[in-house]
Amino acid sequence: MDDKEYGTGLVMGVFDLFHVGHLNLIRRAKEHCDYLRVGVLSDELVQKFKGHAPVIPQDERMEIIRAVRYVDDVVLIDDNPSRLLEYSRRPFDCYFSGDDYIGNPYFEMEREKLREKGSDLVFLPYTQTTSTTKIVRRIQQVQEERQK
Ligand code: CTP
Repeated sequence: MDDKEYGTGLVMGVFDLFHVGHLNLIRRAKEHCDYLRVGVLSDELVQKFKGHAPVIPQDERMEIIRAVRYVDDVVLIDDNPSRLLEYSRRPFDCYFSGDDYIGNPYFEMEREKLREKGSDLVFLPYTQTTSTTKIVRRIQQVQEERQK
């Protein structure tokens, strides 16, 4: 038995066009917990919150995450991407997020409420070099260059 700080850990996200930033977050989260659950946001939720559908449909995004060796469980988040709501359904000892969310007032509020329940919210280094948005932009550039 190894001595990790947390039993059950949770990360949540869209994980569209799976990239190394997603992998880094998941791997680092698993370094801190024995059991890692990943919540994947549904297509409908992404449409609602980002104003556009993901490129890869939810079943395929879940299948990819399920195959990552650091992941123990994958669940679909299809009503509200709230860590508190998720805690009430499936309690966890720590939520891990990329540090791009540091200072986000909603996250800070949730962090406080989770702490009252005995759960932590920990920020891990965000991978600056990539993101789904960057990949989509890069594909668009490549297309334009090829059409010249
Ligand atoms: N994440 C990260 N490093 C990246 C991209 C994402 O650490 N380069 C983390 C986020 O902080 C979040 C999780 O991965 O905790 C899921 O992020 P998600 O929104 O699915 O991915 P993005 O690539 O950031 O998507 P987008 O560009 O559409 O915002």
